[in-house]
Amino acid sequence: MKTAIVYYSMSGNTQQTAEKIANMIGADMIRIEPKKEYPSTGFRKFLWGGKSAVMGDKPRLQPYHFDGDYDRIIFGTPVWASSFTPPIRTFISENREKIAGKSVAAFVCFSGGGADKALLKLKQFLEIDSLDAELILIDPKDNPSPENKKKIKDFCHKLT
Ligand SMILES: Cc1cc2nc3c(=O)[nH]c(=O)nc-3n(C[C@H](O)[C@H](O)[C@H](O)COP(=O)(O)O)c2cc1C
Repeated sequence: MKTAIVYYSMSGNTQQTAEKIANMIGADMIRIEPKKEYPSTGFRKFLWGGKSAVMGDKPRLQPYHFDGDYDRIIFGTPVWASSFTPPIRTFISENREKIAGKSVAAFVCFSGGGADKALLKLKQFLEIDSLDAELILIDPKDNPSPENKKKIKDFCHKLT
């Protein structure tokens, strides 16, 4: 199955997870970046990003390449204010026709609260009832553990 991993990552947890999944199943990685970067340090980081997620913002994105030639799309996002991140919201809005009818899976990285809600909101925004596989990891870059390794493996198994 030709697979794209479409992800946003501010501080590398989602990026690292996307790389691991891509290595395991063989997938193209499509990193989404907003044109105007969010502050990534201090209190402003949580204020701006959190507000943007709560407001359902759709920030303009840096150019990316995504053709409709994929059988499966895996979304990867950090949890922001119990939701998925605004750049992913923009991506979905810009590519609804290309995503429709494809196999869709998702993984989220978070620090301990709101991951289920974020996945629910993602499904609602995608207008689908279920994902083919789901994965939730707590700051995996800072917490490498056998459990996380197993979770990623199980997620990939579901997709193969
Ligand atoms: C703006 C903002 C809001 C966040 N909101 C949440 C949250 O609601 N719940 C949570 O557990 N972690 C929250 N976090 C923490 C990140 O989800 C977590 O550190 C994640 O692993 C970061 O992924 P990344 O390194 O790919 O950016 C937030 C982080 C930021 C920057």
